[in-house]
Amino acid sequence: MSGRLIVVSNRVPLGGPPQGGLVVALHECLEEIGGLWVGAAGDTAEAPSQTFTEHDEASYRKLTFELSQEDYANYYLGYANAVLWPLCHRRGDLIDLQPEYHAGYMAVNERLAGMLAEIVEPDDRIWIHDYHFFPLAHCLRARGVKASLGFFLHIPFPTRTDLDALPNRDDFLDWIAAFDLVGLQTQADVASCLEVYRAMGEGEMLLDGTLRHGKRRFAVQSFPIGIDAQGFAETAVRGNGREILNLRPAEKLLIGIDRLDYSKGLPNRMRAVGQYLDERSENDPRATFLQIAPPTREGVEAYDDIRAELERISGQENGKHSDLDWTPIRYIHQMVPRESLAPILRAANVGLVTPMADGMNLVAKEFVAAQDAGDPGVLILSRFAGAAEQLSEALIVNPFDMAEMADAIRRALAMPQTERRQRHEALASSVFSENIGHWTQTYLDAFRRAAPSVTPMPLSA
Ligand code: G6P
Repeated sequence: MSGRLIVVSNRVPLGGPPQGGLVVALHECLEEIGGLWVGAAGDTAEAPSQTFTEHDEASYRKLTFELSQEDYANYYLGYANAVLWPLCHRRGDLIDLQPEYHAGYMAVNERLAGMLAEIVEPDDRIWIHDYHFFPLAHCLRARGVKASLGFFLHIPFPTRTDLDALPNRDDFLDWIAAFDLVGLQTQADVASCLEVYRAMGEGEMLLDGTLRHGKRRFAVQSFPIGIDAQGFAETAVRGNGREILNLRPAEKLLIGIDRLDYSKGLPNRMRAVGQYLDERSENDPRATFLQIAPPTREGVEAYDDIRAELERISGQENGKHSDLDWTPIRYIHQMVPRESLAPILRAANVGLVTPMADGMNLVAKEFVAAQDAGDPGVLILSRFAGAAEQLSEALIVNPFDMAEMADAIRRALAMPQTERRQRHEALASSVFSENIGHWTQTYLDAFRRAAPSVTPMPLSA
């Protein structure tokens, strides 16, 4: 690849070894080929600087840009997480449209584009991540940047109907079309993207597989993100999950691990566990449901609401089903280190991954990677998680249907070992081969092939 690779993401790992699949993969990739990683600084600044701050790193450079308190409120909590996040996760009812959110989002993207334009060279490649930066390529092109611009969206691509809720929805089409390669998680996302351009923008699919929008031509492809499966499996055997949780010998374990986000389907999941407990017979072994749901995006109203709702449901279900010596639902509202999470996933008999909408869901893949292949647990997976396109050997459920989920829990707990092993083998083969290294490689290969087409589209009024 000629030129440097410049990765842009809202978060950039600083201080200590990188943690988490994506961050580790991008870190390794930059270590190997060199380049830069650009992201927002951890703390807010009173008056954000117009230049990057450089952080010492051995083989590649890390640059951060500052956000003011106002940027944080309007760009991050506001437009990114109270408008675009609900929009892309099919929760139009939670969209909070405030004029200052849109202005703040554009201001941060414009500022970052100006700062990047100062340092970027024509043969560089800029790989931009996620919905925080939908307009960034457009802003860069408007400043005459000629470098190749790639995008990867980690969350679902909005459908045409979702986009109708966005006041400046025509701009959205121009924003996305300013990239040279648009990477999405699933085939379904690619289909949504094509439909949006076909129906709203007179887009046209060209013979070489690229999409035309006005004078722009760009590639759209799915790259389902993976995990560092080997690394996770190794972490999983370094601890004993049953001991960490102090489980009794015959006690079964159901596990859910998610940021406390309304898209994750946690209230319905807890109700489904409640329904399973309602119907459980006296002779069935006790199955404890552990839900780890660390706080996220506090200050956005919808997140405060979901926290209260979950506390209420877990309290209700425990009040109904607890015994003198057993509390069937354990709900933890804090971060748990990966060193404990991996062995806990391995110890679980059933993994519950039941989002209402999710770009991919890496916990589903971590659950698979952590299992003991000789005696694996069973994955219950929502058909609305991007991971369901690859992990079809899981028990696929509809997260709106509590009875179906309760039934899947019953079936998973009773599943014979032979069937568990067969299903696990198929799941593991996908999770270990289509891992994070494979994802980075396939994206970068496609990015190399995607020729930059530099005519900027004017923004619609
Ligand atoms: C999702 C998004 C990421 C984001 C992460 C955590 O996975 O795709 O871009 O970083 O959630 O959310 P947060 O708001 O804490 O960065």
